[in-house]
Amino acid sequence: MHDGFEPSILAFCCRQCSYAAADLAGAMRLQYPPQVKILQVPCTGRVEIVHVLEALHQGADGVFLSGCLLGDCHYQQGNHRAAKRVSRIKEILGQIGVEPERVEIFFNSAGMGAGFAETCREFAERISRLGPLKHGESREPAS
Ligand code: FES
Repeated sequence: MHDGFEPSILAFCCRQCSYAAADLAGAMRLQYPPQVKILQVPCTGRVEIVHVLEALHQGADGVFLSGCLLGDCHYQQGNHRAAKRVSRIKEILGQIGVEPERVEIFFNSAGMGAGFAETCREFAERISRLGPLKHGESREPAS
């Protein structure tokens, strides 16, 4: 752990399911780390690689997408496409010397308020363990 470090985390949440799960978590008064800032998107399939990389570039220490359960995407293949993009982002991060675990995708239905809160807690712990992302520092590509 990095003493005193409070990670900045951006969560792209699908309006159809995960954003509702976040709402439910709030209604149930379930605690999740305030460092997680939620950005509602119509579907995780609308989140492009550049959006995630830009969020990291702009100061986020970690980014996650949270979409509908696999098979339940309202745009059919959106969350599958998002999962492929997250895999690609992890590859890119590894190539530029950034920990790929700083980016993740999760799946939460609208009824999974507790699951969403847990997702936020676990991801915030993961990023806290990694420490701050050193923004603006040039890195050697991973071999
Ligand atoms: Fe929720 Fe596509 S509509 S992930």
